[in-house]
Amino acid sequence: METVIPTSSHMKARFQTVILPCNPSSIVFPPSVSQPTITDPSTSSALQTASEHIRSSHLVVFPTETVYGLAANALSSNATADIFRTKGRPQDNPLIVHISSLEMLKLVVDETFVIPKTYEVLMNRFWPGPLTLLFPVKTAGDGEEKGGGGGVPKEVTAGHSTVAVRMPSHPVARALIAISGLPLAAPSANTSGRPSPTKAEHVYHDLNGRVGYILDGGPCDVGVESTVVDGLGVGKRVEEEEEECVIRVLRPGGVTVEEMQAVLGKGIKVLVHRRDYRDEQLENQPTTPGMKYRHYSPTCPVYLVMSGRQSTHTHSTEQISLDVFLRDVSEELTAESVGGEKESLRIGLLSLTGSRLTRALSEQRRPQVQTSTGSIHLDWVHLPLGSTYNGDNDQGEEEEDLSEPARRLFDGLISLDRAKVDAIVVEGVAEEREGLAFMNRVRKAAGKICSVALPD
Ligand code: TXA
Ligand code: MG
Repeated sequence: METVIPTSSHMKARFQTVILPCNPSSIVFPPSVSQPTITDPSTSSALQTASEHIRSSHLVVFPTETVYGLAANALSSNATADIFRTKGRPQDNPLIVHISSLEMLKLVVDETFVIPKTYEVLMNRFWPGPLTLLFPVKTAGDGEEKGGGGGVPKEVTAGHSTVAVRMPSHPVARALIAISGLPLAAPSANTSGRPSPTKAEHVYHDLNGRVGYILDGGPCDVGVESTVVDGLGVGKRVEEEEEECVIRVLRPGGVTVEEMQAVLGKGIKVLVHRRDYRDEQLENQPTTPGMKYRHYSPTCPVYLVMSGRQSTHTHSTEQISLDVFLRDVSEELTAESVGGEKESLRIGLLSLTGSRLTRALSEQRRPQVQTSTGSIHLDWVHLPLGSTYNGDNDQGEEEEDLSEPARRLFDGLISLDRAKVDAIVVEGVAEEREGLAFMNRVRKAAGKICSVALPD
């Protein structure tokens, strides 16, 4: 099912949006102290202004190590309801709660819950960082606001019995939470359905007039959202004898499956939704995997191109030649254009530096394509995703680093969309390590996935 994505023009401007620059390296969290030390006066003053705004139930955009978030007091139903209005987000899609210390968990997690060993291991290794864990929620009493004793309003969990929690590592995010003294509910700071913002300017362009403050902490390091994990089944008896020893990745993200598997050891299996297991109930809900609603989509069509190594084992679709691919794309795009008489198309290309796809397309700088209705020129706007080559390992095999493409993906989609290209072609990467999150987002953004045969 597809929903209409609200555009800025559907939303009334309510604020004069102010961007407050922050210097992350001026913020230090001394060990075992909950409040940060901030050496830069303007960063300190920006954080004070933003936390007062949060404490008066308004929204603030903050940088995290993954993507920018649209934050509100997680204990207030009014403030969190405003997040849904501002993003045009369906109300049945729950929010992640961000904390700055383990002490804060007590405000949002059911007090009878004993933190299991698996969670302890994951939290020790990956918090603060891009890992979100599900916990049994501590629900707020009726009408409770800013709840001294805590408790999460149903707006945040969309009525689920679990709450998703993470402790971000970005100093500006942690400082905003610590200074406000409140857990912050925050989805990605974009109009619902669009790619997540990884720079303050992405947010400004999208949400200008709809939020009071954007804290600008520079570009996000990870570039894709956190990994969402449900480990609540571990240790539960499934049948008489059997115990469940798996954790489930509902959304792949900044912490990779390989990293989690390495710290958990062989005794616990890490299963990835849709790759290793299906969950009909989950797939009919709008939760993590983004099944029900459109996700990560720019305004123009996106084509995912699988070639070479990745296409052979992840795809059953028939391979086509590059010429056929370009003809099909041109025909589809001209058929969609008003009047259908375009002489040229501008196509955005997000591809790996030096890859066969990049080389094949750069050899034909302005290819002329014959379609059934005439001939058309393709003008490429290339934004490199960076290189995945990371030297050779001890056995002389090439090592791949997929963190660079993950970091650049959303910035690439947003920048090309703003450059008003007619379509974006994204090169697929191997679905492992950071590549799993990359491909998860591109598959959802792409209207079409094509397997293309390329010359060596
Ligand atoms: O990196 C991130 O996770 C960013 C930054 C801002 O922290 N946040 C983010 O939030 O990506 P959002 O709302 O765009 O995505 C949160 C995902 C949603 O797909 C939601 O369905 C899922 O987490 N989620 C939240 N609470 C859940 C719950 N109780 N059970 C299952 N899924 C949940
Ligand atoms: Mg999002």
